[in-house]
Amino acid sequence: MRVGIAADHGGFVLKGEIAEFLRSKGYEVEDFGAYHMDSADDYPDFVIPLARAIASGIVERGVALCGSGVGASVAANKVPGVRAGLIHDVFSAHQGVEDDDMNVFCLGARVIGPALALELINTFLAAKFSGAVRHKRRLAKLHVLENEHN
Ligand code: RB5
Repeated sequence: MRVGIAADHGGFVLKGEIAEFLRSKGYEVEDFGAYHMDSADDYPDFVIPLARAIASGIVERGVALCGSGVGASVAANKVPGVRAGLIHDVFSAHQGVEDDDMNVFCLGARVIGPALALELINTFLAAKFSGAVRHKRRLAKLHVLENEHN
């Protein structure tokens, strides 16, 4: 699986650990930046290119980080085709994929530690959309909304 990652300065250090972890697990990792620590950088500059890569199918899943994860999730969800969730617990890490077909996982690097972050990302990447009719129906309603705004 090809996985894209992106982070502003708030998630920069953790992004490096996540990339190393994912590569050690055999994932192909595409890094959308930041490529160096800059405390004045802006999360949309990295998260939006990742979100566009998800929407166009260049990468299958994404991991987006900032300090709280809020900015990353707000930004990612602006791109049609992206279903991003801000996740800090194991249940939501898999249920968000199983029910909502979440394709971008956002987390706050200033909220949780690296060990939990890696466990959550592992859970997210292992999860699969259930394809249940009720979930497809709900996602179809979101798809209609996206089309209204494009
Ligand atoms: C940057 O200091 C911080 O605001 C950003 O990383 C993120 O937490 C925004 O949601």
